[in-house]
Amino acid sequence: MLESLEKLAADPILGLTAAYNQDNNPKKVDLGAGVYKDADGNTPVFAAVKKAEIIWQQEETTKAYIAQPGFDDFNAQIIPHIFGESHVAVKDNRLSSVMAPGGSGALRVGAEMLNRAKPGATLWVSSPTWGNHIPLLGRAGLNIKEYPYYNADTHGLRFEEMMDTLKQANSNDIVLFHGCCHNPTGVDLSREQWDSVAELAKELGFLPFIDTAYHGLGEGLDEDVYGVRLMAESVDEMLVVYSCSKNFGLYRDRIGAAVVMGKNQEAAEASTSHITNIAREMYSLPPSHGGAIVKTILKDPDLYKIWKKELDEMREHINGLRVEFADMLAEKGSSTDFSFIKNQFGMFSFLGLSKEQIQRLRDEYSIYMVGSSRANVAGISPKNIDYLTDAIISVL
Ligand SMILES: Cc1ncc(COP(=O)(O)O)c(C=O)c1O
Repeated sequence: MLESLEKLAADPILGLTAAYNQDNNPKKVDLGAGVYKDADGNTPVFAAVKKAEIIWQQEETTKAYIAQPGFDDFNAQIIPHIFGESHVAVKDNRLSSVMAPGGSGALRVGAEMLNRAKPGATLWVSSPTWGNHIPLLGRAGLNIKEYPYYNADTHGLRFEEMMDTLKQANSNDIVLFHGCCHNPTGVDLSREQWDSVAELAKELGFLPFIDTAYHGLGEGLDEDVYGVRLMAESVDEMLVVYSCSKNFGLYRDRIGAAVVMGKNQEAAEASTSHITNIAREMYSLPPSHGGAIVKTILKDPDLYKIWKKELDEMREHINGLRVEFADMLAEKGSSTDFSFIKNQFGMFSFLGLSKEQIQRLRDEYSIYMVGSSRANVAGISPKNIDYLTDAIISVL
C-alpha cells in the first residue's frame, strides 16, 4: 500500500536548516528558520526557564494526563498576560483559553473550531503570510483568500489596498492578522492602522483571528498586543492564537494557547469545548512541560522579572542588529538602500534579493536564507556581520 507514496522534498525552511547543519564552511551563516540567536550564534535556554524547571521538578508529583484544556492556572494566567488585567473582556469574563502544542497546534485546532461553526467559511490572510498558515488553516476546511499587504517597492504596507479588499469581507468571514512582528515581512500595522482595521471589523462584523507568535519581540510587551487588545474592545467575538516558542524560548516543548473571546462567558466556553473536543480527535491532550514552565514563570514575580529582562534584551539585540546591518551595508556603499530594515520589527525582513542572488549567497558564501529573501535578522552576529554584508554587496 505504501508504495504509492513518493518521498517528498524537505520542507523549504526546515530543509534549509538541515542543509546549513551539514555545511562544513566555518564561515557559514544561517538566516533561515525563525529561531533567536544570541551574539555567539547560540539559542540558549532562558535563565528564567531553567529556574522554573527546577521548581516544577519539585512540584510535579505525577505524570498522569493533564486535563483536556491543559492546566487551569496556565489558562487563567495567559489571558491577563495577553490582554492585561484591566481589559474589559477580562473583567467581563468573556475569554476562554486552552493549551495547545505550540502556536501551530493552536492555529489548527482554532481553525477546525471555526470550520465547525461555519463550514467552508472564507478566511482572509495577508499576502504574503507565514508559509505554514495556508496549509495549517486551509486543511481545516476554511476557504483561503488573500488581502494585499506587503509592497516590495516601498518595503512597507499596501494599507489602502488592504482596506479596500477587506471591505469585501462580511459577517460570515474570518480575517487573520499577525499580532506583531509580521512573518515574513517585518512590516506591522501602526496604531492608527489598527484603529481603522478595528473600526472595519466592527462595521462589517467579520471575525478577527490574531496570530501572536512574537509577543515582546517587536516594541515591548504592551506595545506588541495593541492590536489584540483594541480589537477585543471593538468586536463581540474573536480568536487569538498565542505561541510561547520564541518569547519563552520553548520551541521544542511545543506550548501555545488558543484563546476565544465570545459574546459572554458561556459562548466563549462553548467554543473552547469544541477546541478540546477537536484536539481529542486529533492528538487527545496537550503536552504538559512547556505549559508548566510558562505558568511557573507567570505566577512568580521574581521569575517573571528575570524572564522579562531576558526578553527585553533579546528584543534590543534584534533591533540593534537591524540598525547595525542596514548601516554597515550603507557604509560599504551598497547600491541598494536597506534602511527599511531599521523600521521593521521582529525576526524577519524581506531583503529584496533575487532567487539567483540568494542561490549565489548559498553556493559561494554558505549563507542560507529562504528563497523569498526572508532573512532571520537574529541570525546576524558581531562575528558574521562583516562577512555577510560583504557577501551581499558582492552579489547585488
Ligand atoms: C506567524 C507565526 N505563527 C505561528 C508560528 C508557530 O509557532 P510554534 O513553533 O509555536 O508552533 C510561527 C512560527 O514560526 C509563526 O511565525
